[in-house]
Amino acid sequence: MTRTFPTTFLWGAATAPHQIEGGNVGSDFWANEGRVPGMERSGDACDSYHRYREDMQLLAGAGCTAYRFGIEWARIEPEENLFSNAELAHYRRMIDTAVELGLTPVVTLHHFTNPRWFAERGGWLADDAVDRFTRYVEVVTRILDGVEWVVTMNEPNMLSMMTAMGRDMARNAAGGAAVGGGGEDWTSPTVDNGPRPVRLPTPDPEIGRIFVRAHHAARQVLRAKTSAKIGWSVANRAFEARPGGEERMAELSWVWEDLYLEGSAGDDFVGVQSYSVQYVDADGIEPYPDHPDNTLVGTAYRPDALGVAVRHTHEVTGLPILVTENGIATGDDARRIAYTTGALEGLAAAMADGITVHGYLHWSLLDNYEWGHWAPTFGLVAVDRETFVRTPKPSLAWLGGVARRGQL
Ligand code: BGC
Repeated sequence: MTRTFPTTFLWGAATAPHQIEGGNVGSDFWANEGRVPGMERSGDACDSYHRYREDMQLLAGAGCTAYRFGIEWARIEPEENLFSNAELAHYRRMIDTAVELGLTPVVTLHHFTNPRWFAERGGWLADDAVDRFTRYVEVVTRILDGVEWVVTMNEPNMLSMMTAMGRDMARNAAGGAAVGGGGEDWTSPTVDNGPRPVRLPTPDPEIGRIFVRAHHAARQVLRAKTSAKIGWSVANRAFEARPGGEERMAELSWVWEDLYLEGSAGDDFVGVQSYSVQYVDADGIEPYPDHPDNTLVGTAYRPDALGVAVRHTHEVTGLPILVTENGIATGDDARRIAYTTGALEGLAAAMADGITVHGYLHWSLLDNYEWGHWAPTFGLVAVDRETFVRTPKPSLAWLGGVARRGQL
């Protein structure tokens, strides 16, 4: 069955500054890479700080029409209240390059990383955290002229979990334990190869509420100073209840997602980010069952997750949707195409049922730094980590073809 998408539909891919730029030395994540056992370093990453034009050319050349990338707070404000005009100009050049190449820029203002000084002054748990973030956002509005889509914060729900992990690591360290906590090696919060609910903390709603405030404050500034559509992007777990797990699922949905989705009220759109489906029974979230099809981050192979996520997001928010991330960590590119085909089928079915979706941005354009690990490859394009040579995979041409035809 042929599925046709609207002609205005945005087709593209997404990245995040810390994962691709390289040399993000002023950030808290960089500082932790040197301290936490088992955490691989981002180093030069994909050197996209210098090679962003080539990256965008690959995407546009394939037939895509949009690129989601981020602005790195740690570069814009390397010391508190010291703003870098040179870095602002750098990101403005990225915006201009995207537009020149026919790519609609979707700009993220915060994607997990903070400036190191911010973290050292209490991070998101400090009294003036929201003011600090809003001041940065206000400065960034100087370069957002003409940008139509702004994501204030990426996955505040995952960030709540990461913030709690950071707090606990600091407490452990103060109590004499190794930084990294419990003597265990680092596992990225985005890597799911263990019983997550046991090993990693549930997002703390108290921290989540800080992000809702930060998002609203940023939105106010952006509304006053830009004409962009404003939203944030929420990691969607695409929960499915086992018989008897319905009540538990409703509780967990609120803690993991709905608090943040409700924080979207009044936005212009909401970003949906989805990778796999997760079962909930009466005892809580089930770890992903062992299966040969599991992805390189340990999640179940569930292309239908995107449809589930979009429908849930629609039910909670009623807002127009932009798929800001969806993809698969695999070494088998044919599998990536199969997964994405399934995901787009689910998306098209949700749209046919009347849900407004403005675009699909695949995670990720490049094989990049997966928050402490290099092995999980999500890219439409492979990157040689020594020479930085980019090698597009067949999935890039495939996605570009879907974009050109507007049809699956
Ligand atoms: C994040 C990305 C990450 C991706 C794959 C999302 O949680 O926004 O930064 O690389 O999922 O795990």
